[in-house]
Amino acid sequence: MTSHRLLIRDLAQVASPAGQDAPLRGAALRDIAVTANAFVLCEDGRISAVGPMAELPAVDDAVEIDGRGLSAIPGLVDCHTHACFAGDRVEEFSLRAGGASYEELHARGGGILSTVRATRAASADELADRLAMHVGWMRRAGTTTFEAKSGYGLDRATELAQLRAVVDAGGVATWLGAHTVPSEFADEGADAYVEFLVAEVLPQASQLAEAADVFLERGAFDADQARHYLVACRDAGLALRLHGDQFTESGAIPLAIELGARSVDHLEATGDAGVAALAASEVTGVLLPASALFLGRPMPPARSLVDAGAAVALATDLNPGSAYCESLPLVCSLAATQMKMAPEESLSACTVNAAHVLRRADRKGRLAPGYDADVVLVGADDWRHVAYHLGGPVVETVIAGGEIAWERSA
Ligand code: NIG
Ligand code: FE
Repeated sequence: MTSHRLLIRDLAQVASPAGQDAPLRGAALRDIAVTANAFVLCEDGRISAVGPMAELPAVDDAVEIDGRGLSAIPGLVDCHTHACFAGDRVEEFSLRAGGASYEELHARGGGILSTVRATRAASADELADRLAMHVGWMRRAGTTTFEAKSGYGLDRATELAQLRAVVDAGGVATWLGAHTVPSEFADEGADAYVEFLVAEVLPQASQLAEAADVFLERGAFDADQARHYLVACRDAGLALRLHGDQFTESGAIPLAIELGARSVDHLEATGDAGVAALAASEVTGVLLPASALFLGRPMPPARSLVDAGAAVALATDLNPGSAYCESLPLVCSLAATQMKMAPEESLSACTVNAAHVLRRADRKGRLAPGYDADVVLVGADDWRHVAYHLGGPVVETVIAGGEIAWERSA
């Protein structure tokens, strides 16, 4: 069998997190290897060589891409999205613009519950179509690996339908059964709903999802309920993640550390003790600045976390309520302008460290031999334009598994 080769040549720069470690912390987050006047050679879906043009080996039968004026970065990894939903929340967005708060709308049965109503009403085909549209948006923004959560079904059939849709779309599925208490459990309460999740949904959810997630927050689930749900999920073989410290510090970081979770995500409300605890742990802090911006909330303490030595990742949180945003380049711009993260730190955070959260850092998040041939070509001769051009059309070409997945010019 002949191999399938793709050669991207004459690139102004190739930029990739250096080394092979994951997760990256502290100064290592800034260590981006940049090769000028370079090539990337892909073979059968993997990267086989990267280097300066002067060292380009003789290559037969390769499809060639002219990289002049462009920079290559690794395919971006979005490790936290809620991309599988129906309906929209544009009405709520307008109300929030006029001063209503996200938590008030949630408490009044709007917010997450309005997306639950729309998602329950959608057929499996409609849900798949909506997810495919969102995945297309993400791909055009340079995302080649994505995670997506359930959490808009909150009943057995719809939670499982969401997880199936994510797996079928090529995503990494996370079971967020404990997102909020659905209206049919309003009287019985959160404890009864968690019992239902564990008894009725977990057995099948654990066959589809890689991880479980919980919204640990006032008005959603408290630390005891979250512990009960997460322990059951861990016993069923799922990795653990938490939505924590979004509005209040309600114990998410200690619980994540206690249970050996992969990540705590949000952290807008995290104080100094939480920063220190997270930095001393194996848990990755996933920062979602598009969500903080969209809700007009304080940004998470990214600088303190990085300087304290925490493993941090960046993600979009793509969802219809708190972050209608699919762009990791925009997230990198927000990280630079709002959280004082250098473009180098941001690139590591949405490539190798995000891949680490999904336990794929051995194959994703770097441009180096042996890694999957997921490559983003940035339309500038300096790769840092990915963070610099605020909301701009920075992505020219997206290559996934050695194939062109999207081209601006096509
Ligand atoms: O990560 N905070 C909880 N969950 C989502 C938002 C979900 C929604 O508003 O639909 C988040 O922000
Ligand atoms: Fe989220």
